[in-house]
Amino acid sequence: MAARIIDGKAVAEEIRRELAARVEELKRSGIVPGLGVILVGEDPASVSYVTGKERACREMGFHSGNRHLPASTSEEELLSQVRELNEDPRIHGILVQLPLPAHIDAERVLLSISPEKDVDGLHPVSVGRLVLGQPTFVPCTAHGIVKLLVKSGVRLDGAHVVIVGRSNLVGRPLANLLTQRSSEGNATVTLCHTHTRNLAEHAARADILIAASGSPRMITPEMVKAGAVVIDVGVTRVEDPAKKKGFRLVGDVDFDAVKEKASLITPVPGGVGPLTITMLLYNTVESAERRVADPAAAAKGRA
Ligand SMILES: NC(=O)c1ccc[n+]([C@@H]2O[C@H](COP(=O)([O-])OP(=O)(O)OC[C@H]3O[C@@H](n4cnc5c(N)ncnc54)[C@H](OP(=O)(O)O)[C@@H]3O)[C@@H](O)[C@H]2O)c1
Repeated sequence: MAARIIDGKAVAEEIRRELAARVEELKRSGIVPGLGVILVGEDPASVSYVTGKERACREMGFHSGNRHLPASTSEEELLSQVRELNEDPRIHGILVQLPLPAHIDAERVLLSISPEKDVDGLHPVSVGRLVLGQPTFVPCTAHGIVKLLVKSGVRLDGAHVVIVGRSNLVGRPLANLLTQRSSEGNATVTLCHTHTRNLAEHAARADILIAASGSPRMITPEMVKAGAVVIDVGVTRVEDPAKKKGFRLVGDVDFDAVKEKASLITPVPGGVGPLTITMLLYNTVESAERRVADPAAAAKGRA
């Protein structure tokens, strides 16, 4: 029997409705969640991602501290812009869109973001807190995948999850989240990468298979256990003259073939993608709520 297809857009809308209620509650306490997105240069993919993030923030009624800077911006100027947002009490979250132009040290810039406003969850302090199971900001795509699984009724407790891809953005934080002792964790995780021997054998043992490799259609039906849940994180642009934009988006999973074997599967696009921006909104609301709960600690960077 063909798999049920997970509708990422519907799950994202459900989470946004829950967030809207929290935003209203914050506004009653006099707080409007504020996000500052910094874009340097005109990279088309980055412009498109940032436009989507800004639209989502507007729709949620957030305060905007967005800054679009020319590609020629110096590292010092960018650091000074981050510093301003760090010190601005109306801003609860800061995101510097990557990649940055080659003359800027991205690591130095990410380190300059206050961990209390690190809604992308990429600062070493956020990563350390995640590993230790402490409250933190979780990188948005990894967090979105967990929410997608939970809201689709997938049982994580005791499940064997195989993740293909060990990036700091997706695979690693996901492995950390899923192995936490929590209601959204308690899974057993195998984390695979290009040096994994017998990848297909590992994948075929998964109750939940998560592909985050960026290798189009690498997951074939032989790599999937009958009845497994399959989450496709991969997004690769493939030239397609038949499309208006000249390309189409392809996932890591051979969707048409694998959906005949899986029990639940995400499509590309429309699966994991819609959750990523939603979890950015989620982290910004969380940050604003922490400010209300403990204004002094948040200001001193202890929250
Ligand atoms: N939907 C969304 O919102 C969203 C968000 C983020 C990313 N993505 C997509 O997700 C994909 C992964 O993103 P990323 O940033 O994590 O990519 P990345 O930094 O390039 O990492 C890819 C990971 O996959 C592993 N890998 C690649 N090909 C493999 C193969 N054939 N077999 C086994 N492992 C393989 C790599 O192993 P090594 O470490 O050994 O090199 C690496 O760990 C991309 O397509 C990206 O566009 C989507």
